[in-house]
Amino acid sequence: MRLKLARVMSTHASCLLRQNCYWRIFDRGPSLSRGYCYKNRTNPDVAPSGIHNVQSIRAKWAEHFKYRNVPEAEVSAELIVAHVLGSKTLAGIASWQIVSKSKIDRINELCALRLRRIPVQYVIKEWDFRDLVLEMQPPVLIPRPETEELITHIGNYQTIQDLSPPRRILEIGCGSGAVIISLAKEYPESFCMGLDQCAVACELTRRNAMKHDTALSVKNIEFNDTTVEGEEVFQSKYDMIVSNPPYVPTIDLESLSPEILQYEDVAGALDGGQEGLDVIKSILRNASRILTSDGLLWLEVDSTHPEAIKKLVEDNSHWNMKYIKTCKDFMNKSRFCLLSSNTV
Ligand SMILES: C[S@@+](CC[C@H](N)C(=O)[O-])C[C@H]1O[C@@H](n2cnc3c(N)ncnc32)[C@H](O)[C@@H]1O
Repeated sequence: MRLKLARVMSTHASCLLRQNCYWRIFDRGPSLSRGYCYKNRTNPDVAPSGIHNVQSIRAKWAEHFKYRNVPEAEVSAELIVAHVLGSKTLAGIASWQIVSKSKIDRINELCALRLRRIPVQYVIKEWDFRDLVLEMQPPVLIPRPETEELITHIGNYQTIQDLSPPRRILEIGCGSGAVIISLAKEYPESFCMGLDQCAVACELTRRNAMKHDTALSVKNIEFNDTTVEGEEVFQSKYDMIVSNPPYVPTIDLESLSPEILQYEDVAGALDGGQEGLDVIKSILRNASRILTSDGLLWLEVDSTHPEAIKKLVEDNSHWNMKYIKTCKDFMNKSRFCLLSSNTV
């Protein structure tokens, strides 16, 4: 199982960040810290002058984030300082290294953004997904760590079942392109198509594909009963459909963290309707029409969904879909569903 958050510098930080990035977990109670922040309440958004080395500026900002109740305080400070110093982490940078005035100004600028609860991934404008460094742009969803596992599950299944590489792969809701670019890398001979209803997401996927020298088709289109009927992209069949659709039940949205609520596309990328199943149902209803006869459908869903999905396809045999299995994520939650077309 591959769970690498390549950017993160230590196991401890990795766990911290992984857990807090997990959108279904609310922000934990932040801790207050004493020190500089308490003494400088009158001008809380500005780091002290005269701080010149890597360690001191990182520590001061971490303290300050804690004081201002910014989650992931230590990791945020570390990632921002490292980013300005041209590195992913501070692991290879001497803590005593002097930081120039212009770099301190830039660190202060970026940390001020973090103080506004802008996710650190948007602040530094990039994030890792498996071994890819992807550009990030609000409001396009920041890929979650569990989604990395989706690629692993797909690869494992292909290998265990001794399947030949899919000739045509479709991702519904490509966001930043994390999933479809990873699959295009995994299966370089496959035709890969990413679609998203959000134009900004499509542009971002295109840029990320170009950055990683990946051949990909991207279409700005909403997947629904009508477009499946009429759009050209659905006229040729696919061997595999993959989707991490919006699946958070609407009622749960209000408890998401300010980082998510203010800066990510909650309505378009997360809100799955009353039960979180709106887009999922639309995919299940239409999948067999665009899949080859033994084509596969991989879904990332809420942990309450696999049982509901199994029942939905059983109760709606005219959808011509067969439930194959559920896979768990690193939190041991039922997270991924595999189905196949059942049209033969
Ligand atoms: C949870 S995000 C997943 C993004 C990306 N695949 C990832 O895993 O990081 C869902 C994405 O699906 C898109 N989306 C939602 N409903 C859609 C629909 N009916 N048709 C096409 N795209 C849709 C959203 O704009 C968003 O980018």
